[in-house]
Amino acid sequence: MNTIKEWTDELRYTPYHQWDQQYQKQLIKTVRNSPWHLNYHIQPESGLLNDPNGFSYFNGKWYLFYQAYPMGAVHGVKSWYQLTSENLIDWQPEGFALLPDSSYDSHGVYSGSGIVVDDELVLAYTGNVRDENWQRQSYQMLAYMNQQGEITKSDQPFIPTPPKGYTHEFRDPQVFTYGGDYWVLIGAQRENLEGVVLAYAGESLEALEFKGELNFTDQSMGFMVECPNLVFIDGTPVLLFCPQGLDSKLNPYQNIYPNTYITADTFDTEQLALTNPSQLQNLDEGFDVYATQAFNAPDGRALAVSWIGLPEIEYPSDQEGWAHCLSIIKELKLKNGQLYQVPVAEQAELRQEEQALAGTLSPQAAPLLEETDNSYEIMLDLSADSQGKLHLFADKELNHSLVIDFDAKNGMIKVDRSNAGISFAEGYGTTRSFSIEKQQALNLRIFVDHSVCEIFINDGQKVATARVFPQEGETGLFIEGSNGTYSGSYWRLRKMKNK
Ligand code: FRU
Repeated sequence: MNTIKEWTDELRYTPYHQWDQQYQKQLIKTVRNSPWHLNYHIQPESGLLNDPNGFSYFNGKWYLFYQAYPMGAVHGVKSWYQLTSENLIDWQPEGFALLPDSSYDSHGVYSGSGIVVDDELVLAYTGNVRDENWQRQSYQMLAYMNQQGEITKSDQPFIPTPPKGYTHEFRDPQVFTYGGDYWVLIGAQRENLEGVVLAYAGESLEALEFKGELNFTDQSMGFMVECPNLVFIDGTPVLLFCPQGLDSKLNPYQNIYPNTYITADTFDTEQLALTNPSQLQNLDEGFDVYATQAFNAPDGRALAVSWIGLPEIEYPSDQEGWAHCLSIIKELKLKNGQLYQVPVAEQAELRQEEQALAGTLSPQAAPLLEETDNSYEIMLDLSADSQGKLHLFADKELNHSLVIDFDAKNGMIKVDRSNAGISFAEGYGTTRSFSIEKQQALNLRIFVDHSVCEIFINDGQKVATARVFPQEGETGLFIEGSNGTYSGSYWRLRKMKNK
């Protein structure tokens, strides 16, 4: 269903209540019937989902919100949609939490974060406003959720304007505490159109002082930095962020915009610097990860969740009135100074029947399973000399599949989407290649869910995420190769409760 032919600005910014209720009801129905509807990933009921927001733990429950536009698969006027969970895998939809209904957020309640202060969950977000000349105004706003789950928006911004020298491309406040103070990082743009991260700090969120630019690189981070997010893993600072317009010589990437990170020795609040920063790296080696949000949970874990989708790219499900999803929840770890992303332990609770997999790789592609319901996890251990291809979302003739081309011997992986399901975003390339440790046994842990695939390599040392839009019958799982052996397990995964 795609009844709307032309999404004018006027239509995209029409308040939700002015839409015919039947229209959205019908859209929700269409989305439910979509063959690409997801089993255990968070997706919109209708319309578009983008960044995860306000990921937090409050009142004995996990909270997660996302950027939502419910009327179609376009970037219209955004709200925060709320979910809660007791186990990080079954998410209860709770409806819209923050709507664009004030003069400080009339054109979108944009991204932000959550932090527990005393007995409230404080949500910090950017209010996006377009003036009569369609010029953007950005206000940093707070809202307070009480013990009963009721949310009250503050009627004044806590940061009313960008500091002097910066444009109104100024958004995505991340709030955290450090050294006894409240800190806020905000994605920003200098008047010379360079992307930076700005920092504020103070005794409370209502009494912040502008500190300046966070110093974490000598290089230009492009024209804008979105969604900066500082998280501490065993005390080590890791900054996740999305530089737009980054020179790909600094960090090779193929997606329209990358989601990158650096690690550092310390967060020096005097110098406003992440000291001894690592080289810039891609958080995900695949096609579709952006706007990852992480926080230090009270149980000691650093937990992350990503938007699986990219700005400015069209996806096949747009035609069915919905777009994008969130990743499974990942725990961030550091081993030998390297970042690892591991599915949270709770993820294993989705497992149903287990099937053992073992064999020798041979040039004739062998079915691991000829048919699946495309809702599964596989874990494969491949020998250090293995070279071959794993086909997911495969038809029986292997004309169509997502190919994971692995070469443990030489330390390379290529994820090839060129013949997987319905083609899209081809302008940004149909393969992603990256190195792994060579001549080492290779571990692949893969989550497939109807139209998304998350690949964790060597216990999360590398992660590659891809949307795939299979057509009828593209559910098989095959393996082929010239060298090596494999063993592992397949589990069918159950649906998320409440889906
Ligand atoms: C990133 C982003 C944020 C912004 C939000 C709007 O995808 O552009 O910078 O707050 O999406 O939906």
